[in-house]
Amino acid sequence: MGAVLGVASLALGSGAVPLDLNNLNNGHLSLQLNIDLNQDAFGANAFAANDLFTFTSLHSIQATPDQVVNDTTPTGGLAGASGVFNFGINSHANMICYNITLHNFQGEFESPADTATHIHEAARGASGPPRIAFPNPEPIDEAGTVRNSAGCLKGPFVTGVIMEEKDTGEGFHVSQIEQNPAAFMADTHSSLALPGAVRGQIA
Ligand SMILES: *[C@@H]1O[C@H](CO)[C@@H](O)[C@H](O)[C@H]1NC(C)=O
Ligand SMILES: *[C@@H]1O[C@H](CO)[C@@H](O)[C@H](O)[C@H]1NC(C)=O
Repeated sequence: MGAVLGVASLALGSGAVPLDLNNLNNGHLSLQLNIDLNQDAFGANAFAANDLFTFTSLHSIQATPDQVVNDTTPTGGLAGASGVFNFGINSHANMICYNITLHNFQGEFESPADTATHIHEAARGASGPPRIAFPNPEPIDEAGTVRNSAGCLKGPFVTGVIMEEKDTGEGFHVSQIEQNPAAFMADTHSSLALPGAVRGQIA
């Protein structure tokens, strides 16, 4: 009995499982579970359960120093550095999975945004606001010349950069990248190359 009550209080503590304590008779406990995914499937912003596990597009971007600009002036970026930004977009879930690898990054990650590794809304040769901020890649080899970060982020997005009184990630939806990939680029910023170390256009 003690063990059963222990489970019941854990479940109540999580807030996710409605428990009717009137059903707790003679040591028998009946639980009614509402699975969130099933509820969402009938909601206004519904996406079918399988859509959560399907990318609507994949993007592999080669990022180089020569693509970096300050406003529209090429800066040369961080000489010798390079990056591969792999993205899987799920526009049903407003989610983006990322696998970002940097070679020969130097200096410290530095940006006015929450992190220094971004997707910006900016056409080739132009600058524009960050829309998504990714965790900065961490060294994965002993010499520290290769860095990686991988995972998934889901909207609503927050960059930490405020323009026109709102965060530049506010209201952003990953489907905007799919609708016009040439209007977006990925980059990372170094203390040795503030406008950008490496940059690559999504299309
Ligand atoms: C990320 O991409 C690299 C190749 O660029 C691959 O070796 C690695 O397994 C990938 N990591 C994940 C988590 O997908
Ligand atoms: C971009 O160029 C302007 C004008 O030369 C300069 O004032 C500014 O500091 C530069 N921005 C960065 C991030 O280096």
